[in-house]
Amino acid sequence: MKVAVLGASGQLGHDVSSAFSAAGHNVTSLAHDQIEIAALESVRDVLSRLQPDLVVNTAAFHNVDRCEAEALPAFTVNAIGARTVAQVTSALNAALMHISTDYVFDGLKGAPYREEDQPAPINVYGTSKLAGEHFVRAGNPRHYIVRVSAIYGENPCRAKGGLNFVELMLKLAHERHEVRVVDDEFVTPTPTVEIAHQLVVLSKSPHYGLYHATSEGSCSWFEFAQSIFEISGIPVHLLPAQPGDFPVKAPRPKYSVLENAALKSRSLNVFSHWKDGLQNYLVRRKTSAKLTHAGD
Ligand SMILES: NC(=O)c1ccc[n+]([C@@H]2O[C@H](COP(=O)([O-])OP(=O)(O)OC[C@H]3O[C@@H](n4cnc5c(N)ncnc54)[C@H](OP(=O)(O)O)[C@@H]3O)[C@@H](O)[C@H]2O)c1
Repeated sequence: MKVAVLGASGQLGHDVSSAFSAAGHNVTSLAHDQIEIAALESVRDVLSRLQPDLVVNTAAFHNVDRCEAEALPAFTVNAIGARTVAQVTSALNAALMHISTDYVFDGLKGAPYREEDQPAPINVYGTSKLAGEHFVRAGNPRHYIVRVSAIYGENPCRAKGGLNFVELMLKLAHERHEVRVVDDEFVTPTPTVEIAHQLVVLSKSPHYGLYHATSEGSCSWFEFAQSIFEISGIPVHLLPAQPGDFPVKAPRPKYSVLENAALKSRSLNVFSHWKDGLQNYLVRRKTSAKLTHAGD
């Protein structure tokens, strides 16, 4: 199958390209300087030339606080960009896998969100991504909308200054004696390698539609940090953040845990528990550091 990956220089796009290549597909990885999803001509020109069977769109404007201050660019990329990709892929008779977010929910349910739960975003980012979902649904009947949560991968996150949460915690632990982390926001941290593998598995399914795709279990950011330090064996004084420690422009849902109900109902779910995903990430990280060191 010919697969085009959009946002391929990002943390998820990088692993998605690798996973589809490893599965034997003919993959074209497209970074932002090769395609602009907010521009119809760019999307039409690039994808018409490639004639893909499947397009995986990981590209987004997803710095949550910047989106709050810059609603127009957020909607231009996350909503109109998604619409453009949906319309062009439909015209080319290609399937579309579109990445969305747990931030489409308000966080008030208090139990894992299923695909049939009503979205109610509380910030511009979530609203623009939800609008993108609607456009994808309307624009290309052969779509998989895949909502992910709190992702981290070995390729740097472009929107977060190159540091995912795990790398940020490890950096802070080396720089400071004390680290503070919020303990009142609950998510499911999910490694991008597992999402990428899940997308390959899902791409073989004829069942288009909406899917939640996260690791198993859930934790607060504080508990996630605690596990990072425990598994890495780094002694650090970890404290719950106090109100006002981290002023943010955009409100965040307090609880955005997703249940992979649709994947499970079709026996497609590949995810492990978030703690196992973290353990594996830290092992891979150590191994690549050793390999880099050996190659010095
Ligand atoms: N990170 C999270 O915790 C998280 C949580 C839930 C959902 N998601 C979703 O997961 C997806 C992937 O996130 P990620 O963490 O891999 O992000 P990332 O590392 O920031 O990668 C996003 C990629 O998209 C590219 N891009 C941005 N705007 C574009 C445009 N207008 N046209 C073409 N390419 C564009 C970026 O290129 P440049 O950097 O060069 O502009 C970058 O390569 C996004 O859809 C995001 O909404 C992420």
